[in-house]
Amino acid sequence: MEKKQMDWENLGFGYVQTEKRYVSNYKDGKWDDGVITEDANIVLNECAGVLQYSQSVFEGTKAYTTEGGHIVVFRPDLNAERMIDSAKRLEMPAFPKDRFIDAIEKVVAANADYVPPYGSGATLYIRPYMFGSNPVIGVKPADEYQFRVFTTPVGPYFKGGAKPLTIRVSDFDRAAPRGTGHIKAGLNYAMSLHAIVTAHAEGYDENLYLDPATRTKVEETGGANFLFVTKDNKVVTPKSSSILPSITRRSLLYVAEHYLGLEVEEREVYLDELKDFAECGLCGTAAVISPVGKIVDHGKEICFPSGMEKMGETTQKLYETLTGIQMGHIEAPEGWIYKV
Ligand code: PLP
Ligand code: COI
Repeated sequence: MEKKQMDWENLGFGYVQTEKRYVSNYKDGKWDDGVITEDANIVLNECAGVLQYSQSVFEGTKAYTTEGGHIVVFRPDLNAERMIDSAKRLEMPAFPKDRFIDAIEKVVAANADYVPPYGSGATLYIRPYMFGSNPVIGVKPADEYQFRVFTTPVGPYFKGGAKPLTIRVSDFDRAAPRGTGHIKAGLNYAMSLHAIVTAHAEGYDENLYLDPATRTKVEETGGANFLFVTKDNKVVTPKSSSILPSITRRSLLYVAEHYLGLEVEEREVYLDELKDFAECGLCGTAAVISPVGKIVDHGKEICFPSGMEKMGETTQKLYETLTGIQMGHIEAPEGWIYKV
């Protein structure tokens, strides 16, 4: 295996086409065997369910090169389960968990020379997704689906890496009560595009979305969950039925409790109490844990004591422990790491 020659250290979060991807088709009530292919393009009928009524769901996880030189994937079993939940909500067939994990392992192995080297700061982002592929014109689910997995080497999601972010409270809502906020459906991201484009144009890195029913509670951002640290060093994260249940967040709460000995709380978090927190971070596969220095609520600035120069102390410890587990120099809880 010959590693690709790439400027790994300076990769951003973008699409770099790799050589191999996985494809399986669902027809007549069953999935076919699936293949690895080199064809990155998809030919669809003009009336395909995904094109007309956005019937699509996706996932995101990463492969890492460990300190010992192995390639590993982080908790793909949880992505498999969440994709099944997402698919059910959009009346799509489940792609079986064991096949999902197998597909990821196959695609990563097939693109091993694109997995960034240990210590480069880059990782191989893995994108499984599924969509309705046959023609649908009345509003109803498709009968045929395609499940695919591709990979792309990525650097930090936010420009500037670990520099604290400035985010704003959005006037738009991300998810309706009893809607689709808790699943990873493309439609949730389509409706966040206007909010993110205007946030960027106004100099903010991301949007903080409030709960749509009362607009008093913190939900999440467009692509990550929140973690807060209290002044007495407790880790707090919003509880809501309309946010995506982040695998990174679940992992960080475990790390906080079992590796760092911190108290953790999953509860409703009110906009009014943000000013009392010591640290704030955004967590997700792409974001890892990105520190937030400032939240702006219609001109009113909430500045976290951790400041705009570096990560807060507890956020930093969480980051180091999680990435240490992923890169193989801190022992992982059982079942978190899949060797390819
Ligand atoms: N919230 C949203 C809206 C996301 O898109 C993501 C990204 O996957 C997350 C949270 C973080 O989830 P995870 O940690 O499973 O990547
Ligand atoms: C991920 O973190 O995997 C996501 O899907 C978030 C997206 C905004 C890139």
